[in-house]
Amino acid sequence: MNVAVFGATGQVGFVMRKVLEERNFPVSNMRFFASSRSAGSSLLYDGVETVVEDAAEADFQGIDIALLSIGAVASKEIAPQIAKAGATVIDNSSAWRMDPEVPLVVPEVNSYTLDTIPKNIVANPNCTTIIAVLPIKAVHEVAPVRRVVASTYQAVSGAGRLGVKELSDQLQESLSLSPSRVSELTFDGSAFTMSAPVKFTRQIAHNLIPLVGNLVGDDTDEELKLINETRKILDLPALRVSCTCVRVPVFCGHCVSLNLELDKELSVDEAIEVFRNTPGIQYSELPTPLEVAGSDRCLVGRVRKDTSVQYGLSLFVCGDNLRKGAATNAVEIAQVLLDRLR
Ligand SMILES: NC(=O)c1ccc[n+]([C@@H]2O[C@H](COP(=O)([O-])OP(=O)(O)OC[C@H]3O[C@@H](n4cnc5c(N)ncnc54)[C@H](OP(=O)(O)O)[C@@H]3O)[C@@H](O)[C@H]2O)c1
Repeated sequence: MNVAVFGATGQVGFVMRKVLEERNFPVSNMRFFASSRSAGSSLLYDGVETVVEDAAEADFQGIDIALLSIGAVASKEIAPQIAKAGATVIDNSSAWRMDPEVPLVVPEVNSYTLDTIPKNIVANPNCTTIIAVLPIKAVHEVAPVRRVVASTYQAVSGAGRLGVKELSDQLQESLSLSPSRVSELTFDGSAFTMSAPVKFTRQIAHNLIPLVGNLVGDDTDEELKLINETRKILDLPALRVSCTCVRVPVFCGHCVSLNLELDKELSVDEAIEVFRNTPGIQYSELPTPLEVAGSDRCLVGRVRKDTSVQYGLSLFVCGDNLRKGAATNAVEIAQVLLDRLR
């Protein structure tokens, strides 16, 4: 396959290149694209130096699969051009996810939707949605899910390179505090205050922010992504979903606390057995972001009854937002497409 990675210089692009190499994806020709800022630099793929092209100027002819991680604004403009030139586009942004003519795919859950790709564009779901939908679907198969309450704990890498830089800068600043200031930290919030936030709405070091994305009415667009994309992926348009997204001072690994209301009894032991046997999931008594960082599977644990409803289940899921939440899922979609051609 002639493969192209758009946004190759970004965080997701970096992991995308890594996952393609790890999986020995059959690449006959690899091309890298970014904005004019990085065009002309070079990156390694399989030991070969490849020059990064400017996506705004390039000719897209000859690409079979294009993996895009360039943000929604750029994707809206460029993805149709790449698709028109003959490639199947797998896009990581929110630009195409709710388009009824674009499959929104987590391969373990709904790869059947790849049967028709009218626009030559496939959407990779939001990172938190991919991680949450795996255990929801696994439970739904054995005990239909009626309502979902999701509370997320999202790493700063979910906000791009600038999110990582902001936490890193603030942590370094706080480490330079004198020992006498450090002793004040437990008693006085102002002692924690670092330089003004830029990427996030509040300081992220030694803090958490219960607002991810932009407000659209009462919810944020990030919360609406999880609500709407979960319904589309599961093909359950009337599923009741409530979501609160929180940014936490963790570099990598998104977590979601899930309360599922079911329409019949499912014991904790049965649920754990389901998770142990679900592709893409690894059961872990105490899943944490550090444990999941670098892994392609999602960790599910803290499984227990939610006794606030007749048939309820509580669980906690962690996934690497740059891997299963982005690059790995996109490469797995490409693998499904490739297998269909063989
Ligand atoms: N981070 C996550 O956990 C995550 C998870 C799922 C999906 N995503 C999505 O993946 C995308 C990238 O995220 P990221 O974390 O990798 O961001 P990032 O580290 O900030 O990287 C952004 C990449 O996009 C490129 N880019 C920006 N504008 C462009 C344009 N107009 N044309 C071509 N390339 C352009 C940048 O190139 P330059 O080097 O030239 O600036 C860079 O390679 C976003 O759509 C994001 O929503 C991210």
